[in-house]
Formats: sequence, C-alpha cells, structure tokens
Amino acid sequence: MAPALVDTPQVVPVGFTKSGNGEYKEAFAAGPKHYRPDAELKGTEKQPPAKYPKYLPTWTDKTYPPLELFEHYEHGKDADPSFPNLLQDATVVDLTANIGAEVNGVQLSKLTDKGKDELALFVAQKKVVAFRNQNFADIDIKDALEIGGYFGRHHIHPTSGAPEGYPEVHLVHRGADDTTARDFFEERTNSITWHSDVTYEKQPPGTTFLYLLDGPAAGGDTLFANQALAYRRLSPEFRKRLHGLKAVHSAIEQANTSKGRGGVVRREAVMSIHPIVRTHPATGEKALFVNPQFTRRILGFKKEESDFLLKFLYDHIAKGQDFQARVKWAPGTVVVWDNRVTAHSALLDWEDGQRRHLARITPQAEPPFETDFEG
Ligand SMILES: [Fe+2]
Repeated sequence: MAPALVDTPQVVPVGFTKSGNGEYKEAFAAGPKHYRPDAELKGTEKQPPAKYPKYLPTWTDKTYPPLELFEHYEHGKDADPSFPNLLQDATVVDLTANIGAEVNGVQLSKLTDKGKDELALFVAQKKVVAFRNQNFADIDIKDALEIGGYFGRHHIHPTSGAPEGYPEVHLVHRGADDTTARDFFEERTNSITWHSDVTYEKQPPGTTFLYLLDGPAAGGDTLFANQALAYRRLSPEFRKRLHGLKAVHSAIEQANTSKGRGGVVRREAVMSIHPIVRTHPATGEKALFVNPQFTRRILGFKKEESDFLLKFLYDHIAKGQDFQARVKWAPGTVVVWDNRVTAHSALLDWEDGQRRHLARITPQAEPPFETDFEG
C-alpha cells in the first residue's frame, strides 16, 4: 500500500493552465498592501489590539528552492485504535453523524508520542476534530512547530505572510476594521471556496493544525466535507470509472493572485499530478481528491469532458450537506483535520471589521496514491 518514493516525470500538457474550470477564488484581501501594523499593535477606535502580536504577519523577499521529495512516516499506522493515550480523560462529542468531533479534556501540547500517533489516527477517522481549551497559541511558536513537526515535514506556504522568524507558520489574517466582506460581496454572491490545502504540492499536507488567535464574536466558522464519504456515496459503476484517473493541480493562479495584490511568491509556482481517488495510508479508506481551487484538468480527457466531470464532482462535494460539518471557533480552539480525506471552506459572513487571526501548522504527508479498485 505504501507509495513508491520515486519522482516520476510529470508531464503537464501544454495550453490548459489558464483554462479549465478551476478559477482560484480568494475571499479575503490579505497581503502586505492591506496590512496596517498600527491598527494591529495598538488597536483602533472600534477594535482592540491583536491578542497575539507574536503571530502578526510579516512578508520578506526571501525565496525558497523547489520542494524535494521526502519519505513521509505515517504515525497513524502505529496508533492503538482504542486511543488510551489520547482520550483517557477526554469528552468526545460528535459534531454530526458522518464527520467531525469536538473534544474537551485533552491538552495537545502535553501529548506523548503515543498520544500523537493516536491523534493522527483519530483525526483520520473523524476527518476533523475541534480541540477546545488548548494552550497552543500561548506556548512558544517553536514548541508548537515541534509538536506539528512530528506528523511530517513543515510546509512553507508560497504566498502567505508568516510570524517573524517562523516561515513555516501559515497565517490567516484579517485585521481590525478590514472591509473585505463588504468589498467582496460587491462582486460575488457567495464566499464558498471548497478546497484541500495546497494540493498542488507533490506531497500535500496530512494531519493539519489550525488554531484561533483572534476571532469575531460570531461568524468566520469553517465548513468541512468528508471526502471519503463523498466517494462512497457514488455508485460502484461511477467509482470504477474514476479509478485510475489523474488530474493536474496548479499553484499558478494562487501565485498570480498574490502578485496581483502586491504580495509575495516565496517559491516558484508548481503543478502536480495526483489520482482523483486517493487511499489513506492508515485507514485504507478511499477519498475523492479534487477541489475547485487547485484542480485544473483530468489527464487524458478533452477539456469539455474534464470540465464536465470535475464540475459534477465539485457540485457533489459542495452539496453534500449530510457529509459536511460546520466548526465554530472559540478562544483556545485548535482544529485538527486530515487534509487527505477532507475539503474545507472558510466563511466570510461578518462585516463589522472584527479581526480574524489564525495560525496553521501544515505537516506534509505522502504523495497521494490509489490502491486497487474494490467494487
Ligand atoms: Fe485552507
């Protein structure tokens, strides 16, 4: 089942990168041009200062070489499936029947390695877990990174700002008095942006951590979809047709968007080819692995055929209300998801200029692989 660690040449057909139906849609205008350090450090008439100034974004001209393949070790495979080290003192409440859980009584920063192995498996099974009352935002950034680094090599995001000295931390930041929502809805009817993170990388993230630093009193929830159940919902005949198909995922549009707003591109934009259905290395579950933010074209299909099938899959995922969950943020919340078997979409639903500031730790995992079709 393990993927071969071979950097096979990935020949991307010429001429479709600006077409396809995979427009990159960004629902917030973050970037150095929009950043107001005074408003963040001192607050404004309406908004208090940022609670976690050590996590405020910085942008440098430093660039990074292309990522190289590395051998990912899947700790979820070593986990005790009864989760004695993770859930001994925990209260677990499922968010829905099909995806998501909320956990109280666990301190992620105190987990032993066995507890971390169990975390990887538990999150792979639940798809997304909201851990409440965590001290993750309060510990040193280097310690938070050390915990996340157990699960894989840290991804350095090509276009996001980062806390000074910690390029591995991806920041989601809308500052005080930000007018993004009002501006955005002048042009768009909704803020839906279903995606899995940075799927254009050859080794996209697996167990992924996002924690709240500052957030609006209401709003800014995150939607998650169970991509494994989205796959199983399809008929066996349809699944059989998807088996073996591969698609191109592109970072180009995201990089262009960043350049267009005066932002950074820290690493040259890449494209990768991944199976449309991938297998999870710890659970053996299969999941759809396409998203409208980064997937651009199914290999071997003509453009119209590819657009047609991708649109069906995107609609299927977006409409799957019975395999989706809505996670509400609260101070001290760390949300951990398995990026291999989920998609998510941020909500842009508050317009009163309250700050929203989160940090993501993004360990990369194995190159996506697909095991034999099971009818
Ligand atoms: Fe994301």
